[in-house]
Amino acid sequence: LNSKINIKASDLFAIDSDFEVLVLPDENELVPEIDNKYFFDKHTTEAILAGFKFNMRVLLHGLHGSGKSTHIEQIAARLNWPCIRINLDGHITRTDLIGRDAIVIQNEKQVTEFKEGILPWAVKSGIAIILDEYDAARPDVMFVLQRLLENNGKLTLIDTSSVITPHPNFRIFATSNTIGLGDSRGIYSGTNLINQAQMDRWNIVINQQYLPLEKEASLIISKVAGYESDAGKNLVLQMVELARLTRNGFTCEDISCLMSPRTVLNFASNNIIFNDLEIAFRLSYLNKCEDSEKPIIAEYYQRVFNQQLTEFIKEKKHA
Ligand SMILES: Nc1ncnc2c1ncn2[C@@H]1O[C@H](COP(=O)(O)OP(=O)(O)O)[C@@H](O)[C@H]1O
Ligand SMILES: [Mg+2]
Repeated sequence: LNSKINIKASDLFAIDSDFEVLVLPDENELVPEIDNKYFFDKHTTEAILAGFKFNMRVLLHGLHGSGKSTHIEQIAARLNWPCIRINLDGHITRTDLIGRDAIVIQNEKQVTEFKEGILPWAVKSGIAIILDEYDAARPDVMFVLQRLLENNGKLTLIDTSSVITPHPNFRIFATSNTIGLGDSRGIYSGTNLINQAQMDRWNIVINQQYLPLEKEASLIISKVAGYESDAGKNLVLQMVELARLTRNGFTCEDISCLMSPRTVLNFASNNIIFNDLEIAFRLSYLNKCEDSEKPIIAEYYQRVFNQQLTEFIKEKKHA
């Protein structure tokens, strides 16, 4: 079960790295599916690989759509490591994670039996878990995680007074939009402060950045059919450039909604579907933005495409 195969990271992830990684030998249906188009960033990849190899706890934070969750998943896919995502957004509870007493029928009698939650199962079965949206977890959930992190993955089930020792392949990763210091702009609603003692339990904390522009563009060209020509490639580069302007605008708090890689992907596909750049832009992004911010966004659009958005053409004439 624990025999592992050593492989060079540079061979598996197309990065320039001296890292050697362990690939698990066994098939498992919980190993994520490989996305062949995935692009691995060296630093993030090495950090995540250290998590897998040395059982380090790795926390990835960064803006939405920067590829935090999929980065971990795609590495697990190549290491043949079973991996599940647990989304900690406001709905998941302590009982979902730990388990609860349930009434079952045994020998025609009603008895209570402890039904394990997702965490005891994962700890025992040697799975990598991704605690997604870690900064959005409820306080009762944070408490459970705190115990897990403090005890090196040992999980105490108070309900059954038992201690679960982690399987050697059990790993913990987390992703978050904030670094647990709150969100002063209210953009990531539902995020909470993370107790500093708990932040301290993460061995590796890394900020995931968006891909370099050309990489993002080639990704989109490879994923959306119709942009193979030189003109097509150029148009995608402009779309990504526009996205970059919105990301910068977001960072300096000029606007409150940015174009994530997902948005650009939608922009590119909608442009093929509707064969109209402006309509595609509206449907995939502009309609999500606040009216008060639209003049700034129109300016970004104008700068990149040298074209005014319809509603701003009129305004210009009157002015
Ligand atoms: N490096 C990358 N290579 C290929 N696709 C990527 C990359 N980074 C992000 N994506 C794509 O962007 C989308 C958002 O990624 P995701 O991991 O969900 O972001 P996050 O968890 O940071 O919000 C996914 O469809 C993913 O496949
Ligand atoms: Mg995510």
